[in-house]
Amino acid sequence: MNSVSADGLRAVSGTDASESERVEQWGGLRLDAFDPKAFRTNAEIAVSKLERYLADSSIRGLTLTDPEILLEKARALMAEPEGRLGGLDEHRLGEILDLYIRTGIQVHSPGYMGRQFSGVVPLAGVVDFVSSVVNQPSSFYEAGQLPRVAECLMADELNRFIGWPQGRFAMITTSGGSLANLTAMLAARNDKLPRFWSEGAFALSGQPRPAIAVGEDAHYSVHRAAGILGIGDDQIVVLPCNGRRQIDIAAVQPTLQAAEDRGLKVFCLVASAGTTSIGAFDSLGELAAIAHARDIWLHVDGTHGASLLVSDALRHKLEGIEDVDSLAWDAHKMMFVPAMCTLLFYKNKEKSYGAFVQEASYVFEKAPDVVTEFDSAEQNFECTKRPMIMGLWVLWALYGPRLFAEKIEYLCQLTGKAHAVLEDEPEFAALHEPEANILCFRYVPSNLPHHRLGDFQVAIRNRIRKEGRFFISKVDIEGLAALRVVMMNHRIHIGHFQALLREIRTVGQSILKEWAAAASENEWAFGACRQPERLRTSV
Ligand SMILES: Cc1ncc(COP(=O)(O)O)c(C=O)c1O
Repeated sequence: MNSVSADGLRAVSGTDASESERVEQWGGLRLDAFDPKAFRTNAEIAVSKLERYLADSSIRGLTLTDPEILLEKARALMAEPEGRLGGLDEHRLGEILDLYIRTGIQVHSPGYMGRQFSGVVPLAGVVDFVSSVVNQPSSFYEAGQLPRVAECLMADELNRFIGWPQGRFAMITTSGGSLANLTAMLAARNDKLPRFWSEGAFALSGQPRPAIAVGEDAHYSVHRAAGILGIGDDQIVVLPCNGRRQIDIAAVQPTLQAAEDRGLKVFCLVASAGTTSIGAFDSLGELAAIAHARDIWLHVDGTHGASLLVSDALRHKLEGIEDVDSLAWDAHKMMFVPAMCTLLFYKNKEKSYGAFVQEASYVFEKAPDVVTEFDSAEQNFECTKRPMIMGLWVLWALYGPRLFAEKIEYLCQLTGKAHAVLEDEPEFAALHEPEANILCFRYVPSNLPHHRLGDFQVAIRNRIRKEGRFFISKVDIEGLAALRVVMMNHRIHIGHFQALLREIRTVGQSILKEWAAAASENEWAFGACRQPERLRTSV
């Protein structure tokens, strides 16, 4: 590394100058915050705490704290006003990291069964840590050379499981599945309604109204994207689901035809590969045939389930994927890397440049050279973008696809076993056969008044979240709340699921007792469950 000969810098790097002299020389700049030795000390504090955290395989739920209390606690850990500050307070750093680690969701515990982000492969976290220190944003090759190269390599690696012709498709990384859905739908709109980008809604006067078609269970980000794109809720054509909560293929043509007859032009159909609610997979091949016959772009929201492609045993869930136009795939879900890491694939590389059209002389070149040709900024929304591929690429480079396939297969099998356990429990009702690693069910004890069925599930979920050993979620299925588990952690085995059912039973029965007591005291019968659970007041 070149040394700089400025006097100040010599003094700073010399061993004779005291800390205060050095800081003095730089007008009070806190050089200790940039000191490589302090960096090592800080990192060692963090690593030893994380090692302990990762080694703890106990069943831990969420310690849900009253936000006011946590705010107070966090405020007390903030620096004193400038001037009264000493050197680095290692003790305080330790306290802050402890607070961070122990509050919030415990993704590495077998008690964590509630959401779709995962306990990460720790090595991916290590790479993320390096990424944060070297800070090489990855929209531009000049800033993040290896991340851009890694994106290209991972595009080819993952496309082996999709099956598009080499060199003709494109993959970008972007900040989350929601943004990937929006970006793909924007590319679709600009492709099918080419004047919209420059003329806006004026381009449409006298034309059929642009519309999108989505399955009943599409993620809310798809509806949000329709709003952002100026499509409007009224132009969202909802395709009904069949009994397995997939888009009902028999209903697609008639629904699209009815939309056309109403004066709508459906330009994009969004299918799901792994719905958020129950993990259902739409029939992609059949949808592609219908969509393309009608000149409709087929986008697949595979943020949750696209990872199943890497498993020989499970790939068939996405049969027909080679025929779709675009695919959103969250690696921060079932590829077990830290959020955010989302991949957006386009079958046709040229169309990946259709989402955004800008000129900006400070970054974009009219005539790309060998370097700028490698930039992705014209395809992705972000200007500065985290080098999110690095964790995934390093895992892939060192372990290969089996690391992911094995864990995904384990989690899906475990969910199947959990379903079998429920089938043997007369007081529990499974709501579907699991397609992947999501399972929804209800606790329906014989002493539950039937009209309280939905409220009861919500009350159980909230009570467990507040004080239980598990973290689960809830979702409405056909308008009625249900309990939902998402198996994201290979530390969970079937005994943990059975323990969860015992906890649900215990918590459920005590809620029923409270409701009965409240009713007998003539309280408003719904009051007990509608009131928010009181949260912890200590942390
Ligand atoms: C099916 C589906 N689509 C989109 C999203 C949004 O993805 P992200 O949270 O990465 O923005 C989710 C999130 O859970 C999802 O399940």
